[in-house]
Amino acid sequence: MRKTYPIDRFQSLQTPLYYYDVDLLKNTLGIINDEINKHNNFIVHYAIKANANPALLRIISNAGLGADCVSGGEISIACQTGFEPSKIVFAGVGKSDWEINLALDKGIYCFNVESMAELEVINMLANKKNTVARVALRINPDVDAHTHANITTGLAENKFGISLTDMNDVVKSAMKMDCIEFIGLHFHIGSQIQDMSVFKSLCERINEIISCFEKAGIIISDINVGGGLGIDYDNPEENCIPDFKAYFDTYSTYLNIGSNKRVHFELGRAVVGQCGTLITKTLYIKKGTNKQFLIVDAGMTDLIRPALYHAYHKIENISGGGPKELYDVVGPICESSDVFGKDILLNKTMRNDLIAIKSAGAYGEIMASQYNCRSIPKGYLSCDF
Ligand code: LLP
Repeated sequence: MRKTYPIDRFQSLQTPLYYYDVDLLKNTLGIINDEINKHNNFIVHYAIKANANPALLRIISNAGLGADCVSGGEISIACQTGFEPSKIVFAGVGKSDWEINLALDKGIYCFNVESMAELEVINMLANKKNTVARVALRINPDVDAHTHANITTGLAENKFGISLTDMNDVVKSAMKMDCIEFIGLHFHIGSQIQDMSVFKSLCERINEIISCFEKAGIIISDINVGGGLGIDYDNPEENCIPDFKAYFDTYSTYLNIGSNKRVHFELGRAVVGQCGTLITKTLYIKKGTNKQFLIVDAGMTDLIRPALYHAYHKIENISGGGPKELYDVVGPICESSDVFGKDILLNKTMRNDLIAIKSAGAYGEIMASQYNCRSIPKGYLSCDF
C-alpha cells in the first residue's frame, strides 16, 4: 500500500528531516511479540545502534523488548528511555573501562565478551566492585552471511568474536575466574540477511558447538544468536514488515536445544528500518550532457548508506509532479559519492518538490554526521502531526 505523508506539514519544517511512521513501528513490534510469545524461551533485544531516537526507543521499550548496546552511551540512553537493565546485553570489541564500570553499576544482564584480554579486564573491574559479571562469549562461527562485505561479521578473518580454535581455552578460563559467571555463547554473522538458509547454517554450527561443550560437562544456559534479519528495500510498501514468522520458526526448528535454555535475538534493522523515511526538498534540476541531476537538500551526511555501501533506497517524488523522467538524485556535499541513486525514474520534478527516500529508519539518522558543518537532521514521529 502506498504511504501517505503529511506533505503540508513538511513544507513548513526545515528539511531534510526523518519521518517515522509510529503505526508501522507498533504493528512491527506487535508481530514480533506475537511470534516470540509462541516460544517461552525467546527474548528479543532491540539493537540500539540501528536508531537511538529517544521517542522511538520509548515505544520499543514499552513493547517489552530488551536492548542490545555497544557503548556506554547506548547503555545510558537505553536506561533513560525505559529499558530494564536486566534486559540489556552489551557487545563490542573495544569496551573501555568506564563503559564496563557503567554496565556493572547498572546491573545489566550480560556482557558479550569478544576476547581473552577483555575477559580479564571485566573480571578485574568486577572484582574491584565486589560483584560478579555475567558473561557470554562471542564466538566467530565462520558462517558466511552472503551479504555486503562491509556488514558481514561471522567469517574467520573478521575482527569480531573469539575464533573456534581459541574458544575452548577462553571458556575454561572464564569458568575459573572469581568475578565472572559464564552463562553462554553469543553469535552474530552479519546484517541485511534475507535468506533463511543462512540462519539455518548458523543454527547447525551452534548445535555442533553446544554439543561439544555439553559432552565436556560444560553447561550453557543462554544462546544469543545476534541480529541480521533484512528488510525489503526494493518493495517497502508491499513488504513493510519482515517475515518474522519465518525467521523465528527457523531458529525454533533448527536450533537443537531444550526449552530450558534462553535464546536471545538482537534485531535492529528489522524493527525500525521500514518505519523511517528521509524527507528532502528539491533544490535544483541541473541538466548534464547526457543526464539530468536532481539536487536535493539532503546529503550523505544525513543518510550515508548509499555512499558507504552502494545501498539502494527507493526514491519517490511525494509532491506529485508530471510524467516520468530519469534523474540522478544527488546531495549538496562536496564528495562525488554523495549520490542517492542513479537513473531513477521519478515524476517530472520541480524546485521545492518533496522527495521521500524510503526504508531509512535503520542506520539513517543515527549515522548522520556534521561534515561540511551541516546540522544533524531532526526526527519527527507521525503521531506528533
Ligand atoms: N548484534 C550485533 C553484535 C551487531 O553487530 C549488529 C549490527 C546487530 C546485532 C544488529 O544487526 P541488524 O539486526 O540491524 O542487522 N550500518 C550498516 C549495518 C551495520 C550493522 C552492524 N551490526 C548498514 O547500514 O547496513
